[in-house]
Amino acid sequence: LKKGKPMSILIEKNHRVVTIRLNRPKARNALNTQLLSELVSVLQELDQSPEVGCFIITGSDTVFSAGADIKEMRSKSYHQMVQEDYFSKWEQFTTLRTPKIAAICGPALGGGCELALMCDIIFAAENALMGLPEITLGVIPGIGGTQRLTKAVGKAKAMDMILTGKHLSAFEAEKAGLVSRVCPTEQLLDEAITAASVIAGYGKFATTSAKEAVDQAQEMSLKDGILFERRIFHALFATEDQKEGMSAFIEKRSPQFRGY
Ligand code: HXC
Repeated sequence: LKKGKPMSILIEKNHRVVTIRLNRPKARNALNTQLLSELVSVLQELDQSPEVGCFIITGSDTVFSAGADIKEMRSKSYHQMVQEDYFSKWEQFTTLRTPKIAAICGPALGGGCELALMCDIIFAAENALMGLPEITLGVIPGIGGTQRLTKAVGKAKAMDMILTGKHLSAFEAEKAGLVSRVCPTEQLLDEAITAASVIAGYGKFATTSAKEAVDQAQEMSLKDGILFERRIFHALFATEDQKEGMSAFIEKRSPQFRGY
């Protein structure tokens, strides 16, 4: 990380759960290049650690993220965008293996919504708003929104949101299958930490394998996906956590997973 510059993210470790808080309040947590590179480098380092079992990505109580930084992008030319391959670094966020929960209070718009869509689970506070308003700026979603939103909620809702720029409330997002839980705003982070601690308490080999298998459902045919799942399931019998989990059940005790 660059020395001397204020961090645009805050990092907190709570046993095996790492919470990353987006921290550019004056810009409503807009995702500029500095924030992206801090986020990715911190997460990539922690991703390797057997001590870290789950990430939470969150903003403040009033805003998750207003999306890509419009002030940073406004004057860029087509050539600059191509040359820099603007936003391609976000791919590194999607290749993290540790499960990630997005905990959203307030607006998650444009790139903010796309960041949530790149997480594995989304929890929304009652004050959350999700949308892809890029069309109102003369562009389209550029961090996977047209693809991931469509896979998450289907063509009808995705087209409506992307072409009209209409936002969904937390309850609408839950009904559409975009978020898995809606909580009172003041309880959101506790709820996310509780769920993340449950995930982090399991063997990391098993959780990362489960995530990988579910992710493949977006990429593979049903037949190939089921074969992929079965092979990973077989492979888990090479882990000590499988022996421990099954022995603990039979011996009526709590398992002590070690992540291998
Ligand atoms: C840069 C932003 C910003 C953004 C807000 N700000 N959103 N700066 N990029 N995405 C700045 C404002 O210019 C303002 O700066 C300050 O943050 C406060 O913003 P307000 O609008 O006054 O705040 P508020 O009333 O609380 O409303 C919050 C908000 C609204 C609902 C999130 O700011 C908003 O709608 N923002 C834009 C949302 C959007 O269109 N997102 C899509 C971005 S494009 P000053 O200097 O005046 O204090 C995107 C593209 C991805 O994500 C790929 C396509 C290429």
